[in-house]
Amino acid sequence: MAQRISLTRWLVEKQRVQGHLSAELRLLVEIVARACKGISHAVNKGALGGVLGSAESENVQGEVQKKLDIIANEVLIEANEWGGHLAAMASEEMDGIYLVPNRYPQGEYLLLFDPLDGSSNIDVNVSIGTIFSVLKKPEGQAGVTEQDFLQPGTRQVAAGYCIYGPQTTLVLTTGHGVAVFTLDREQGSFVLTDENVRIPADTKEFAINMSNMRHWDEPVRRYIDECLAGKDGPRGKDFNMRWIASMVADVHRILTRGGVFMYPWDKREPNKPGKLRLMYEANPMAWVVEQAGGAATNGRERILDIQPQSLHERVSVVLGSKNEVERVTAYHAK
Ligand code: AHG
Ligand code: MN
Ligand code: MN
Ligand code: MN
Repeated sequence: MAQRISLTRWLVEKQRVQGHLSAELRLLVEIVARACKGISHAVNKGALGGVLGSAESENVQGEVQKKLDIIANEVLIEANEWGGHLAAMASEEMDGIYLVPNRYPQGEYLLLFDPLDGSSNIDVNVSIGTIFSVLKKPEGQAGVTEQDFLQPGTRQVAAGYCIYGPQTTLVLTTGHGVAVFTLDREQGSFVLTDENVRIPADTKEFAINMSNMRHWDEPVRRYIDECLAGKDGPRGKDFNMRWIASMVADVHRILTRGGVFMYPWDKREPNKPGKLRLMYEANPMAWVVEQAGGAATNGRERILDIQPQSLHERVSVVLGSKNEVERVTAYHAK
């Protein structure tokens, strides 16, 4: 059997041999992975652990929080605040930024996360996940402000997600391709199971919430209409559809076998740019997808180039197989 490479060993070698990451960033990724392991255990316990159902609270986006949204947020904070690698954190479930308490040393990195992605799937035992993005704090200043987080996705230094499905799988990029690690529950460690993942440029599978069809903008409608027309339509082939309603699970499928994922702007709320959040959903996923040879735009421009204006800013998302994303983006330009 081929030698098993743990996440720890993989990170050490990326740091020591290839210089792909600093010691601090290596520690950060290890700690995020450890937190995800903890979340994975809580998810697996389900009703037995008393973690299902809603909490009596709302987050800053006006969504009712599930118990696991709050638990996962706390696990990530507690795991990360004492390590000395971070200056501050930000999350879907916290209104403002979370400063590392004074009793701990301050590091130079900023960590953003969607602690629990796919909240509507928790209670129905469908795959959910955690998404994370790491930025560097601007140099030569003492404190941290929310403003320091507002950097475009091109400035990420590490990003990825952990999916809690039939397997628990951690997907990571530090800007040198995409690596996949599967949790070995007996050993309690993540083991490298795929490296240099590539998303096929073409696909016959799309993911979109079709119930919003009547609200879509013309270019999105045209693209999906053409897919639905199948072999006899302008695309000359039949398309399949999947919609899991956990971005992590939809993106993971696309990473595995290709496809295009869309959560576009629509007419229900004309002043809202989209549903998904730029800084801790779209940016990390866009970077992972690009690092695997795919593409990610908001229909008009590359997601990673967008200059964020606020922490919880929303964005329209089209990502996945390159030729399909380019087609959807071209339809918007017309
Ligand atoms: P979250 O659970 O972190 O709030 O994110 C849910 C997101 C995303 O994971 C998914 O693609 C989308 O919401 C599903 O939205 P619909 O329920 O509108 O299909
Ligand atoms: Mn939510
Ligand atoms: Mn989410
Ligand atoms: Mn979430």
